[in-house]
Amino acid sequence: MTNSEHTSVLITGATKGLGFEAARRLGERGWLIFLGSRDEARGREAAGKLAASGAAVVMVPLDVTSEQSVTDSVKLVRKHTDRLDVLINNAGTPGTAVPPADATADDLHAVYDTNVYGPVRVTHAYLPLLEAAANPRVVMVSSGGSSFAVVTDPAQPVSKVHELAYSSSKTALNMITVRYAQALPHIKFNLATPGEIANHTFAATDMNGHTGQLTVTEGTDSIVALATLDAGGPTGIFIDRLGPAPW
Ligand SMILES: NC(=O)c1ccc[n+]([C@@H]2O[C@H](COP(=O)([O-])OP(=O)(O)OC[C@H]3O[C@@H](n4cnc5c(N)ncnc54)[C@H](OP(=O)(O)O)[C@@H]3O)[C@@H](O)[C@H]2O)c1
Repeated sequence: MTNSEHTSVLITGATKGLGFEAARRLGERGWLIFLGSRDEARGREAAGKLAASGAAVVMVPLDVTSEQSVTDSVKLVRKHTDRLDVLINNAGTPGTAVPPADATADDLHAVYDTNVYGPVRVTHAYLPLLEAAANPRVVMVSSGGSSFAVVTDPAQPVSKVHELAYSSSKTALNMITVRYAQALPHIKFNLATPGEIANHTFAATDMNGHTGQLTVTEGTDSIVALATLDAGGPTGIFIDRLGPAPW
């Protein structure tokens, strides 16, 4: 499959949860989906499901913690397209929620490798393909837990979740996204959180043992909104499905 007129999107961590749902929704729009998966068998299975419902989909082996995997993924994507319209850095890990008193630098490093260095590795590698698109957009999947306003609000459940790695990794991702947006104004760099911050809700996925109150479709509303921004749309913003999210 090659890309001439389809809008193209690469989604990292798209085997399940929000990544898979974003792939399904954008595939329904006729987009060419590059479905990132660090596990080839699960990636093929997920891509097969989308293809069976009529989507144009290419499975891309992609572990965001590996430079080699990211480099190899670009080579594969280039066989199908000479530009990338949208990159969704969705792959993420919650880590193991080690209490702050016990957390080591290694605990943080493991989470940062996926949630912070991962999006940087992938974004850096795909910049040439993004630069070749007319309206390139990068969507970073953040979290309400990234927000100082949310974490310091005693009414927010996350204020009582004592851990260092996950929330701070997403805070770092927020700043990195704003800095990309400032430096590269011809590419939109925006942040989505899948939950509804005002209502203290999040989306039911494996990451939270399906304890979320929102569906994956609701959880991907903010991601899809940023992926489908037109050329006049904003850059450097942070939203949930209800509107602007507090930093
Ligand atoms: N659910 C929510 O309400 C919520 C709230 C705030 C933020 N988020 C964020 O939303 C994103 C998606 O999470 P989710 O809720 O959909 O969780 P999920 O169902 O657990 O999906 C996470 C995805 O990331 C992939 N992944 C993990 N490490 C990876 C790596 N090194 N390389 C490539 N892919 C990797 C997983 O692949 P495997 O299947 O191979 O593990 C999986 O496909 C994450 O960034 C998460 O932090 C979610």
